[in-house]
Amino acid sequence: MSKRAEEHKRDSQYQQAKRQGYRARSAFKLFEIQKRFNVFKRSFYILDLGSAPGSWLQVSKKIAIENIDKFKDGFYHRDHFKILGVDIKNVSSIDDIHFIKMDFTQPEFFDHVKSFFQGPKIDLIVSDASIKKSGNKFSDQIKQVNLCNSTLVFLDLLKFKGNFVIKIFEGEDYQHFLNQLKKNFQTVKAFKPQTSYKKSNEVYLIGLRKK
Ligand SMILES: C[S@@+](CC[C@H](N)C(=O)[O-])C[C@H]1O[C@@H](n2cnc3c(N)ncnc32)[C@H](O)[C@@H]1O
Repeated sequence: MSKRAEEHKRDSQYQQAKRQGYRARSAFKLFEIQKRFNVFKRSFYILDLGSAPGSWLQVSKKIAIENIDKFKDGFYHRDHFKILGVDIKNVSSIDDIHFIKMDFTQPEFFDHVKSFFQGPKIDLIVSDASIKKSGNKFSDQIKQVNLCNSTLVFLDLLKFKGNFVIKIFEGEDYQHFLNQLKKNFQTVKAFKPQTSYKKSNEVYLIGLRKK
């Protein structure tokens, strides 16, 4: 796809997101991930790392509300949802969603998460967190993997059989991170949404059913 065609696609996806009430076109990435892997199945307690401007929080809320009606059965079910977002940037408020403005790599944030969900009860952790790119693909990729590594601590608060979605950049240490996930999840898949730029080295890793 030419640069111009790619820009056109990006703009029309952005307009489409706005028309549907989403704050960013990244909303479509999460919908694509959901369609392919059903990561939100029976998800009521959700942690979103790197939330600004908030479209993944909006998508999470929509699906969590649907889940309350969809899974009224004898299996795992909740009659309410809890969603927590965090970012170093501000996220303008969304009803019924708790947002904390801070760096999630700070140890205090772990305590906030633990007390918000009251223990290891999270059904789904999603992380679209990105480093601020410098333009140097090599060092950016290493920084992004370091950021990804700092999310692993939250797996302690993910329930048994819970799911995980994380954005990473392909390159050095990617395989090592993938192997870490394989130790923690029954299935791990790599996925590049259609909504991602063709040239970008971003890829989402999907960890299904925490061991
Ligand atoms: C691509 S944006 C997220 C978009 C979001 N998923 C949405 O759909 O609206 C990545 C975000 O990660 C945040 N971020 C990166 N490192 C972070 C950290 N250590 N703590 C908190 N937020 C961080 C950035 O500030 C940025 O807002």
